[in-house]
Amino acid sequence: MITSAGCNVLDYALAGPASIDAVDANPRQTALLELKLAGIKTLAHADFFQIFGVGRHPHFDEIYQDCLRPVLSAAARQFWDSRGAWFSERGGGFYFHGLSGTVARVFRAYLRLRPRLAGHIEALFNATTLAEQRERYDAHVAPLLWTRSLNWALSRQLTLSMLGVPHPQRRQVVAQHHAGVAGFVRESLTFLAHHLPFRDNYFYAVYVRGQYQPDCCPEYLKPAQFARLKAGLAARIVPHTSTVTEFLQHQRTPISRFVLLDHMDWMSSYYPQALAEEWAAIFARATPDARIIFRSAHAEPNYLDHVRLPHSGLALRDLLRFDTARAAALTDQDRVHTYAGFHIAHVLG
Ligand SMILES: C[S@@+](CC[C@H](N)C(=O)[O-])C[C@H]1O[C@@H](n2cnc3c(N)ncnc32)[C@H](O)[C@@H]1O
Repeated sequence: MITSAGCNVLDYALAGPASIDAVDANPRQTALLELKLAGIKTLAHADFFQIFGVGRHPHFDEIYQDCLRPVLSAAARQFWDSRGAWFSERGGGFYFHGLSGTVARVFRAYLRLRPRLAGHIEALFNATTLAEQRERYDAHVAPLLWTRSLNWALSRQLTLSMLGVPHPQRRQVVAQHHAGVAGFVRESLTFLAHHLPFRDNYFYAVYVRGQYQPDCCPEYLKPAQFARLKAGLAARIVPHTSTVTEFLQHQRTPISRFVLLDHMDWMSSYYPQALAEEWAAIFARATPDARIIFRSAHAEPNYLDHVRLPHSGLALRDLLRFDTARAAALTDQDRVHTYAGFHIAHVLG
């Protein structure tokens, strides 16, 4: 799977696969996953949660030197040696660092200027029933939140790039939504407010609060699951800094599951040939019953028809069978809800 920040890798490890290769072209993502793995290996849950749940630890520097650093790779050490301040109290904490952390910090500053809205948003995350949440959102949050300035900020490519949304994805969203990016985000949040509880929606809570809470966090941060990872499941994760294609070309063991996130959106726009090569490598390594999941800013991304495999010339759509009913059912439960398309594909034998 693609590593990204590593939270999903750890949550997948809890499902008990034989092994997970966590692959990312960006060495910073590998460094972050390594830091989390080092914490699981060497720390008690309380310190681990303080660092990765709260995002701040008063003794981070000592813990880093004594426990975490010795079990990191040379590349991860080089990255973290100069970045301990990200976990300090003074800097606001880890979740207010990096690009998306900066957006979170700006949003927090904005909420300080609008205390009434801030109060209603906090109440939204504390609502105990869906009916109460819906009522609070419609009556109090939506009218205060959707101002022209927020619509403007959400429509800027700068904001989107900082949130990890490249230009090709923005184009896809704009092509599908008459009210543009802001309209799409508004529709997504309204769906969430009406249908899925915010109380445990840690994907958004971390943006608003700048930290997770014990009852609103990814699974790997919960004490019982942390204990399972520490007891052996985390040791099944192998981080790699490389592209998916490079990794697969050096990989000999067959792979039964692929988690590709949304990276095909940018690759299909900028490097369609490289994406075709990546799929050739996926098919070369996939077991006969392999399952591949990915998502896209477009409900039916056109790369499924346009990307053609190097030798056969066949389109991806001809080589995969899609479980559309299951994907649709899972999309309804998606707590982020900003990807129009989620796909579960089976390799055709
Ligand atoms: C930030 S994540 C996208 C997260 C997104 N919010 C999601 O969950 O779908 C995209 C990650 O894919 C990595 N990535 C993109 N293209 C890649 C490729 N060809 N090979 C390996 N990693 C890639 C990026 O470095 C990044 O860490």
